[in-house]
Amino acid sequence: MNARQLKTNVYWIGAIDWDRRLFDALIPLPDGTSYNAYLVQGSQKVALIDTVDPSMIHVLMAHLENVPAIDYVIANHAEQDHASSIPQVLAKYPDAKVVTTPKGKDMLIALLLIPEDRFITVSDGETLSLGDKTLEFIHAPWVHWPETMLTYLREDKILFPCDLFGSHLATTDLYVTNEGQVYEAAKRYFAEIMMPFRTSIEKHLEKLNSYKIDTIAPSHGPLYDKASFIMEAYRSWVFDSPKNIVVLPYISMHGSTQKMVEYFVGALADKGVTVKQFNLAATDIGKLAMTLVDAATMVIGTPTVLVGPHPNIAYAAFLANALRPRLQFISIIGSYGWGSKAVEQLKGMIPNLKAEVLDPVIIKGFPREEDLKALDNLASTIAKKHKERGFA
Ligand code: FEO
Repeated sequence: MNARQLKTNVYWIGAIDWDRRLFDALIPLPDGTSYNAYLVQGSQKVALIDTVDPSMIHVLMAHLENVPAIDYVIANHAEQDHASSIPQVLAKYPDAKVVTTPKGKDMLIALLLIPEDRFITVSDGETLSLGDKTLEFIHAPWVHWPETMLTYLREDKILFPCDLFGSHLATTDLYVTNEGQVYEAAKRYFAEIMMPFRTSIEKHLEKLNSYKIDTIAPSHGPLYDKASFIMEAYRSWVFDSPKNIVVLPYISMHGSTQKMVEYFVGALADKGVTVKQFNLAATDIGKLAMTLVDAATMVIGTPTVLVGPHPNIAYAAFLANALRPRLQFISIIGSYGWGSKAVEQLKGMIPNLKAEVLDPVIIKGFPREEDLKALDNLASTIAKKHKERGFA
């Protein structure tokens, strides 16, 4: 796609990756993604803000074909999808300097072997004049790596936050046109990489309150010409209380756990609790992560495999533990044939989740009347606890 103009002498020069379906060999990308780079041409100096994934470097270099000079390459983030094209850009522009945080410099040297003398490091709040345009650098560590910063173009009131506020979405729309679609994609992205750093994100949001922002130009997905849309969404994901939602990742081998899950979901729904049920035999793990942003409770449904939880369930527990959602309550339901230590093993896998563990319902074989009653009791306990905490 050709360069797109944001403001006078400010251009999107990124790459759209329609076909990518997996990020970090882990995160599903159902709608592709983009790697947004930006060119800011001041009256005296020219800056390139972020670069693109190595798979798309030819696209960036084509954008730069008729750009005679770049003075600064702003590296908001050292991860390869934004930084890995920097060495080629530096090779094309031998006088260009990389502008980043001190930690960003360390990481870019380690990851991309960029020579030390190609860097300018900036402190929090430092500015860089391009002539009639001024870049201000806002240190924002732990967007999901420790070196991250945001860049604010003062005269045009554009924030370039790299991953923050981004969405994995391939689209020809420069700006958001379908808010519902972008909300989902941005929430999925927040859940997958930023949720564990929620306290840092809170600080970044508070810091940004003092900036007048007309446009947010992230490095993935469409841009926001209504900054309040995505900022309000982020505020709700980090500041709001959990919701009256149970997330239920499960798997069943011979139908017993399936029967328990079906009964239990019905019981919770009867008591006014919303349930998001995910069969991990065929689920998009990103949707599970997205649900963990809001859910007050997680109930894991697992059969027993060689005394422990099913491996797919162990994977989901490991992931939930790493993502550190705001879960307040956790429980486990499931069945075994001849013996189980699934509960003990699962509890050991989730030390980061500071949630109250509610009595599990683990049964031998296919559920009987008394087992269904135990599931009813667990559903009642969850509904009562959600109500007591005011989760709506
Ligand atoms: Fe889009 Fe953390 O890289």
